[in-house]
This record gives sequence, structure tokens and C-alpha cells, in this order.
Amino acid sequence: MTVIAIDGTFASGKGTLAKRLADHYSLAYLDTGKLYRAVGYAVMQADEDPGNARHAAKAAKALTGKELDNPILKSGEVAVTASKVAVHPEVRQALFNFQRDFAKRGAVLDGRDIGTVICPDADVKFYVDAKSEIRAKRRHLELTGYGEDISFETVLAQLIERDERDKNRKEAPLKAADDAHLIETSEMGVDEVFETAKRIIDAVLKPRD
Ligand code: DC
Repeated sequence: MTVIAIDGTFASGKGTLAKRLADHYSLAYLDTGKLYRAVGYAVMQADEDPGNARHAAKAAKALTGKELDNPILKSGEVAVTASKVAVHPEVRQALFNFQRDFAKRGAVLDGRDIGTVICPDADVKFYVDAKSEIRAKRRHLELTGYGEDISFETVLAQLIERDERDKNRKEAPLKAADDAHLIETSEMGVDEVFETAKRIIDAVLKPRD
């Protein structure tokens, strides 16, 4: 079963890459950020504090997977809350089995700790990143496209705040696995990113055919 692990910063292009790779190699795809977003959103709806590990873990344990298609999960506010609930080890533990089970049948997973914690034995690992300003520009376009009224400066500030929290938390911080292939997408188009990743994957998988 082929497992491809894609980690990286927010709006680096990792989701677009993951979806295309899943399509191309006929693998299932899991955007693991959505799990944390769904937990964040549940906490927001219950009017609880995302800093409270017990409440956040309860929401994580109650997750069925059906919540993941809700478009509200894409909002900037939910994203910030997601990064707050993601610091709790209890939340990460509750979401661990869901992700592991998903990967068992072969899959592409994208997130922050896929290559390091969730699928350390993945066949191919990538770490995708781009400059903050470029990621903020991409995200700002996306959010205004959904009709969200938010300034570029706010998007950039939220992005920097989330990067800091994701990289500096004690539990499963965002970092490249030692054996991950790094892709810096600041100057690359989506096709170029895909072709770069495909070449690397084919070189790993072809000899096994
Ligand atoms: O990929 P995303 O922007 O949808 O993720 C939202 C938040 O969830 C992110 O700020 C950190 C957290 N997250 C995580 O801690 N581990 C993952 N595997 C995926 C996301």
C-alpha cells in the first residue's frame, strides 16, 4: 500500500499538490487540517475556550468524519482556532487513530506531522513551503473569493501567528522529517510543483513494479 506524506506550512500549496497526487496515483486523500478545523469549530460552537484541553479533546473524540465537508471549516477564524486546539496532546491522540486507519489502505495525507508522527514509514515524504508574503497573498485571494471581508495585512498576521504556534508547540511540531523532499513553491506554478513531486515518487515506486 502506497502512502505519501505531505507536510508543510499553511497555504504553501501542499493541499493542491496532495489532491493532484491522490488523483494521479488513484489513492485516497485526507486533508488532516480539516480534522483540527472541525474540532476548532465544534469548540467555537459550544462557546468553549480552545485553550481548554479537556473540552477540545471531548470534541476530538466525538468526531465522526461527517463534519469534514462543512464549508465553514475554510474560514480564517476556524483556522486560527484549529491551531489553538492542535497544541493539546489529548486532541492529537484522539485524532491519531483516525489518521492511521485512513492511511492503512494506501493514501495521500497532508498536514503538519504526517511524515514525522502519523506515517513515519510513508513511502515518500514531502515538506512544502513558500515565503510568508506569497502564502498570505494566495490565502487572501482564496478568502476574498469565498466572499470573506478580510485585509491582506490581517491574513499575513494570522498566518505568521499560526506558523509560530504550529512550529513551536511541544507536541508534534511542524517540521520536515529527515527523509522528506523539500519543495519551495514561492516561484513555482501548481503544474511545476506536481511534476517535481511526481518525478520523485516515480523514481521510488517504479523499481518496485
Ligand atoms: O492545514 P490547515 O491549515 O487546514 O490546518 C489547520 C491547523 O490544524 C493548523 O494550524 C495546525 C493544525 N494541524 C496540525 O496540528 N496537524 C496536522 N496534521 C494538520 C493540521
